[in-house]
Order: sequence, then C-alpha cells, then structure tokens
Amino acid sequence: MDTVLSIKNLSKHYGRIKAVDNLSLEVKRGSVYGILGPNGSGKTTTLGVILSVINQTSGDFEWFGKPGTQNTRKKIGAILEHPIFYPYLTAVQNLKIVCDIKEVPYSRIEEVLDQVGLVLRKDHKFRTFSLGMKQRLSIASALLCDPDVMILDEPTNGLDPQGIAEIRDLIINIANSGKTIIIASHLLDEVQRVCTHFCVLQQGKLIHDGLVEDVGKGATIVEVKADVEHLEEVLEASKMTSGIKRELDKYTLTMVEGFGAVDVNEYLFKQGITAKHLILKVKTLEKQFLEILAEQGGGQQ
Ligand SMILES: Nc1ncnc2c1ncn2[C@@H]1O[C@H](COP(=O)(O)OP(=O)(O)OP(=O)(O)O)[C@@H](O)[C@H]1O
Ligand SMILES: [Mg+2]
Repeated sequence: MDTVLSIKNLSKHYGRIKAVDNLSLEVKRGSVYGILGPNGSGKTTTLGVILSVINQTSGDFEWFGKPGTQNTRKKIGAILEHPIFYPYLTAVQNLKIVCDIKEVPYSRIEEVLDQVGLVLRKDHKFRTFSLGMKQRLSIASALLCDPDVMILDEPTNGLDPQGIAEIRDLIINIANSGKTIIIASHLLDEVQRVCTHFCVLQQGKLIHDGLVEDVGKGATIVEVKADVEHLEEVLEASKMTSGIKRELDKYTLTMVEGFGAVDVNEYLFKQGITAKHLILKVKTLEKQFLEILAEQGGGQQ
C-alpha cells in the first residue's frame, strides 16, 4: 500500500500550549484513518496544518510523497468547520457556487447529491435542511472535485442517532468507492465502526497508532515505583514501552508487545535501580482509550 499522507515530527504551539507535540504518522492509500482524542487533544489543529490552513511551529508533512502544493490540494476534499452555505439558496444553487470556485462542471452536482442521498431535496433551500442534511451537503460539496482523499472533522457532531447512522454509512460508502478518508473524532465507537486504522492523541502527543481490529485485544500494563528522580527517562530509553503515565510516584507503562514485568525488572536492575513496586496488569486497548477519552479536554490550560 502506498502512502497518501506522511506527517513527521509535527508541532504546533500556541504560546505555552502544545496543541500538536512532535506528531508523526502515516496514512496509507485506501485506509479510513481515525484521529481519536478527547477535546483539546490537537485533532483539528493537525487537520488544519495538513490542509495548510494553519502554519506549523516545526516538523513536516507530505501528501503523495511531495510537500503540499496547489496541485496536491486538489486531490483532497475537506470538511473542517461548519460549512458555509447560503441559507436562502437551494442545495443545487449552493453547489453551483462551489463548482465555480473549484472549476468543476455543474454535471457533477447531480452525481454528488445522489451519492449523499439528497437528490429529493436538491431544490430546497439550505435553511430548511436538518443538521444531518447540512452535513451531507457539505460532504457532497467536498466530493465535487472527486478528491482522492476526504478529510472529515467530527462528521457526526450534534446529530441524532439516525443522522449519525446515515453519515457513518455514507462515509463507509465513500471509502468503498476507493477514497482514502481521514476522520477526527472523540468517539471510540465511531472510529471502531468506520475506520480501518487509527491513532490516539492526548494533549497533542501521539500515544497509540495501529489497526482498529486490534482494539479489543489486551495490552500489557506494568505499574512501577522506584525512588529515583530520572525514572521516566530511564523507562523511556528502554524502548520496551509505548506509553508512560505518571501519577504521583507511580508510573503506568503500556508495554510493547513481547515485553512484560520481568523485563522491566531486569532492565531497571541493570540500570542500578530497584523497583519498590512492580505490578503486571492486562487491559484491553478499548478500556484504555475509554479512560483517555473520558478525560476532560484542555488539560494544559
Ligand atoms: N488559535 C488558537 N489559539 C490558541 N490556542 C489554540 C488555538 N487553536 C487551538 N488551540 C488550543 O490547542 C489545543 C488543541 O486544540 P484542537 O482544536 O486542535 O483540539 P481538538 O482535538 O480538535 O478538540 P475538540 O475535540 O474539542 O475539537 C487546545 O488546547 C486548544 O485550546
Ligand atoms: Mg476539533
């Protein structure tokens, strides 16, 4: 599978706030990639940077193996914020304006309205649309130039269960038509239903990436305490953990596959450190993510 998007060591700081903190990830062609994280974890900022709407503080990203240019941007359809359509114009009239801006023939309008299931409402004014229809119209608008990649920021926010199910089906249909899709979401359930791959952000940092099908699997968690100042650095240097969380003097380590409590103990011992507390736990990724997502966002403010 070839790489559609590659992000390398990307950071975006707003003063003291690290909205995106040294983020690296890759999105492969044909995948539906979920960026999962609680409020304020940097999802929208990341999407803004890769769409060249926000300037990064440092780091790089490439679309289709090249730095983002006008040409590559044409291959990307995005719905970032709430779409701006004219309330007193119909769906078709609104899309004609988008066609003019994007230099797309009007003949595409019928096709995209059909794709999102709005043909029957095409001559109705935008202001009469439900939230779900508005969202579908913005997806239609992003589909107009037949992009290779679709970027959706919280596509089901504010919708009722029926609307959520419709948008999710629509996303799956678009993915089945061969497009690569990148979705930001704070809902694990949404990512599990729609995505093939995903990453998890927490305070701008990547704390996990992998296949959605692995979410139900267990991860090895090791809790450790030791009376040394630099324990976190030592543990980080071990390369045995994919995540380290600290609560007071207790460190909770998410172990890389193949490593367990014995390895931590041996490693620390070799570093001249004696663990005063060492406990092995197994926790599914699902449980871990639900804990992360239950956090209130904006822990940095
Ligand atoms: N223009 C800005 N100026 C200052 N801080 C900002 C700005 N934009 C975002 N931030 C901060 O950056 C962090 C990440 O925000 P971002 O909107 O990317 O998060 P998010 O994951 O999309 O959250 P949500 O789930 O609420 O949409 C937050 O702490 C936010 O307050
Ligand atoms: Mg957001």
